[in-house]
Amino acid sequence: MHAGQLTFVRAKPADAGRLVAHEQRVRDPKLYGPPLGHDACVREIADNALYFVEVDGALAATAAWRRRADGSAYLCNIAVDPDFRRRGIARAATLFLLAEAKGCARIELLTHPDNAAAIALYRSFGFETEGRKENYFGDGEPRVVMLRGRNVSAVPKSETARPATETPQAGPRGGPGRNGRGPRSCGSADDAPSRPTCTRGARE
Ligand SMILES: CC(C)(COP(=O)(O)OP(=O)(O)OC[C@H]1O[C@@H](n2cnc3c(N)ncnc32)[C@H](O)[C@@H]1OP(=O)(O)O)[C@@H](O)C(=O)NCCC(=O)NCCS
Repeated sequence: MHAGQLTFVRAKPADAGRLVAHEQRVRDPKLYGPPLGHDACVREIADNALYFVEVDGALAATAAWRRRADGSAYLCNIAVDPDFRRRGIARAATLFLLAEAKGCARIELLTHPDNAAAIALYRSFGFETEGRKENYFGDGEPRVVMLRGRNVSAVPKSETARPATETPQAGPRGGPGRNGRGPRSCGSADDAPSRPTCTRGARE
């Protein structure tokens, strides 16, 4: 489990440089998509409720979501710095996003079919694979659409327990998710492609 306290700080457009640096840290062009440049990061922040997940002040991860026009939620930009992986941070971040998107009956995300870590994480929260899209983001790579809907029968164990050290809360810049879709964020099954959760939008 992760050590230290997690803080979720809502990103502002002026924080794009911080996101660019994180993109370089987590880069995995095949499974996560090419790192976003500055303009794409500005759009990503504008189009989503994007959070920097800090551990004792250090940037450990990003996580984002947005509410779409049809009322469903789209999760994206869940990416943990390599130095902070396998400490439960993605699990805590997903839990945080699901709490924010609580009123949405349908929650979607996209990931690469070879991203075993991400798929295991999302399955543990009750996401199920809904379909596969070839070359969905135009990078030649396939993506799977994962869905968590009302028909999910049981509350996953992961949502009933939370690390004692975790105190997910929006930071000073926190705020509600916003409507609209962004280039990267992820796009969704019925949105124009951008990038995956996980994947985001247009690349620079
Ligand atoms: C996928 C990713 C977000 C996981 O972050 P993390 O903080 O290391 O994950 P956690 O420690 O919270 O682990 C949660 C669950 O994810 C799964 N998982 C995480 N890393 C894994 C790995 N290397 N192999 C298999 N399963 C893994 C496990 O189910 C794990 O639960 P467990 O610890 O009970 O086994 C991280 O590897 C990452 O940022 N990868 C690059 C960006 C990316 O691909 N993001 C996902 C886009 S859809």
